[in-house]
Amino acid sequence: MTIKLLKNMPSKLGSNDSIIWNGDASDVVRKLPEKPLFDLVITSPPYNIGKPYEKRLEIEEYRKWHEALITAIVERTKPTGSICWQVGNYVDNGAIFPLDYIFHPIFAKLGLKLRNRIVWHYGHGLHNARRFSGRYEVVLWYTRSDDYTFDLDAVRIPPKYPGKKAFRGPRAGQLSGNPLGKNPEDVWLVTDSAHDLWSIPNVKAGHVEKTEHPCQFPVGLVERLVLALTKSKDTVFDPFAGTGSAGVASLLHNRRFLGCELDSDYAKLAYSRLIKTSDGEERFRSHAKPVFDHRLSPLSRLPEAAE
Ligand SMILES: C[S@@+](CC[C@H](N)C(=O)[O-])C[C@H]1O[C@@H](n2cnc3c(N)ncnc32)[C@H](O)[C@@H]1O
Repeated sequence: MTIKLLKNMPSKLGSNDSIIWNGDASDVVRKLPEKPLFDLVITSPPYNIGKPYEKRLEIEEYRKWHEALITAIVERTKPTGSICWQVGNYVDNGAIFPLDYIFHPIFAKLGLKLRNRIVWHYGHGLHNARRFSGRYEVVLWYTRSDDYTFDLDAVRIPPKYPGKKAFRGPRAGQLSGNPLGKNPEDVWLVTDSAHDLWSIPNVKAGHVEKTEHPCQFPVGLVERLVLALTKSKDTVFDPFAGTGSAGVASLLHNRRFLGCELDSDYAKLAYSRLIKTSDGEERFRSHAKPVFDHRLSPLSRLPEAAE
């Protein structure tokens, strides 16, 4: 696998090349061949909330920009492919507007089928004094057709009661659960339980993956989608690649990665993370690592009153 950081479109795309383009997603996608290339598109677009990396647009202008981009992306996604669009809320003067309200009609008009609206709950963020503090975002998972990859066994999670037995029928007395584990369901929680092996914390200060980027994907979140929705050697694309977390997860699992990032510093960072991943040196928090049980911390109790 060759990893490249490019500004221009090469005359031919090598099927073994993983590429980060430092450029505008709309330009790069339009220059890609108009044929099915992507097995999985996974991205977290700018939310139009005035982050340093985005130009705040009127909401209708934002919608039109995305409609044109998503149309070009769908044209380049394989008929068996999936698109995962991860979004939170656009916030205007204290009023929240869930961005899936904008995106769903675009995907539905293009004929895609929504398979899951995954709620990703995370444990840390800003505290709000005028409404309940926001602690989840959603991943809209669409497929182009009914013939799509879904490898549930690759992402099963430990069941709560592995010792549970069937109490009637031909399997009475035998263990009733799937020995490979259970379906991880469509709410991905950060819970207080040390036994919930599939909790995926967001990337905040102190997280092993933290870079200078303000809104990184946790690699573990992408890992689960890559494992379930693609096969080895498939191609994953992220039009808003940021620090390349989707690329890290893809390379970890022997998938090829293509991505675009407008900001040259982030593009260089993404490229260096991909190189480190392929050298086995990138630090990341695996999707299978248990979450720290906060009750074990002395900070989870009030200090004893002084004698
Ligand atoms: C929400 S962040 C994505 C972060 C990414 N998922 C990660 O794990 O690092 C959105 C990214 O889109 C980039 N961006 C904004 N406008 C863009 C455009 N027109 N084309 C390509 N990238 C763009 C921003 O610089 C930012 O890094």
